[in-house]
Amino acid sequence: MDQLRTLLVLDDSKIFLEDFESLMKNFFTVLTAMTDKEAFEILSHKKVDVMLLDLMLGDGQSGLNVLKQVKDEMPDFPVIMLTSHASVESAVESMRLGAYHYIPKSPKIEELKTLVEKALAQRELKRDYELLREEVQRVSGRIVGATPSIERVFESIQRVSMTDVTVLITGESGTGKELVAREIHAASKRSQRVFVAVNCASLVKELIESELFGHQKGSFTGATQTKPGKFELADGGTIFLDEIAELDIHLQVKLLRVLQEREIDRVGGASPIPVNVRVIAATNRDLTAMTEQGEFRQDLFYRLNVYPIVLPPLREHKEDIPLLVEHILKRFGKDLNKSEITVDPVALDCMLQYHWPGNVRELENVIQRALLLSAGGVITLEHLPKEIGGGESVVSSGLSLPEVEKNARDSAARLVIYRYLEQTNWNIKESAKLLGIPEKTLYDKCSRLGIKLQKKNSS
Ligand SMILES: Nc1ncnc2c1ncn2[C@@H]1O[C@H](COP(=O)(O)OP(=O)(O)OP(=O)(O)O)[C@@H](O)[C@H]1O
Ligand SMILES: [Mg+2]
Repeated sequence: MDQLRTLLVLDDSKIFLEDFESLMKNFFTVLTAMTDKEAFEILSHKKVDVMLLDLMLGDGQSGLNVLKQVKDEMPDFPVIMLTSHASVESAVESMRLGAYHYIPKSPKIEELKTLVEKALAQRELKRDYELLREEVQRVSGRIVGATPSIERVFESIQRVSMTDVTVLITGESGTGKELVAREIHAASKRSQRVFVAVNCASLVKELIESELFGHQKGSFTGATQTKPGKFELADGGTIFLDEIAELDIHLQVKLLRVLQEREIDRVGGASPIPVNVRVIAATNRDLTAMTEQGEFRQDLFYRLNVYPIVLPPLREHKEDIPLLVEHILKRFGKDLNKSEITVDPVALDCMLQYHWPGNVRELENVIQRALLLSAGGVITLEHLPKEIGGGESVVSSGLSLPEVEKNARDSAARLVIYRYLEQTNWNIKESAKLLGIPEKTLYDKCSRLGIKLQKKNSS
């Protein structure tokens, strides 16, 4: 026989509890409690599947208060309310507070069984969904970095994702502008809706207006059908306008209107169509300067620049290179079945000396190439392009030999520490154990090597 589900019933009437237990004991394992204290005691020691909670407890206690406490501590835990006389209002209130359902105090056995199974199935589904979401985020790449400049980016993303404000992301090529835009979308309340990316530079000039705003059938030669534009497609979600600096001046006016009025005009359309989109724009050019020189409309610039996020070039946060390398190895090494690959400290040091004009994208390309070349498990100097691995950068840095050696040691230490921190989900205690050093030493090393420990625990 299947194992019985365990119910915890909280009610202030002893008689009711006894009756309930004798009635249900063949179908459920029944645990009973007469006070909230008793109930929490049981919840902390026993495995309970579902809790049944009386809406009216004695001593003026409301079941709603207990419900709140339970939900605070265990948001996913299913609670079903028991109502004696039809107190529909409190029952509805209880569902708002997170109760799974409510039933009369003398439920039919079958009804209760079904309800319990449904509650448990719903919880499973929710968990699966959350796991799936995490997985999707992990695979699709996330922003990596622990230096203050990247921490600031994380903070900005968090802040703007709670709102609908327009964001302008600037940064050199390959610094992660699109990645940041996608993160903002994913962290926002629009995450279940679409993210539409438009590259303003790659669109054919004659077609861009119709691409963005759509067109009405017959509005120009070739418009054989009415077609919605990207803004309409993004309705409810986020539109990412990449390389915004390249947008034709005539279209800048149109875009300004969309941002002001929140409605679009299809080419040849009769009336404006309201759209509900969050706009994120990006550019690697200096829009302020372009505005001053009259190459970009000032009013549009102000409309876009409501919340600016500036991404630092990689050469300004080189301390993140070991972490990025680790991340990239994990992402691409998996495809190649080379998950155990490591980077030789000297090679890593050359990477730390290099100035990375192509930023993280260049780093990605270099690692991908090195992964292919290094048949063994270690990426060494010879797998790096000459401008990085030729030692040029180390030589031209003008460092003395002891300094070079110290840098190499530090880089290797950073890489190993990062690896274990990541592996243990930033658990200091476990990492220290794996590294074979006391916790205190790990703290000291991290602070010396510029590895930031806080905050990561939760992510
Ligand atoms: N901080 C980061 N952590 C992890 N990966 C990153 C980071 N920054 C960039 N990347 C990766 O680098 C690559 C380039 O990033 P992205 O395409 O977002 O850059 P971009 O700023 O839009 O560049 P471009 O101006 O050339 O379009 C992507 O594969 C992205 O995942
Ligand atoms: Mg880009």
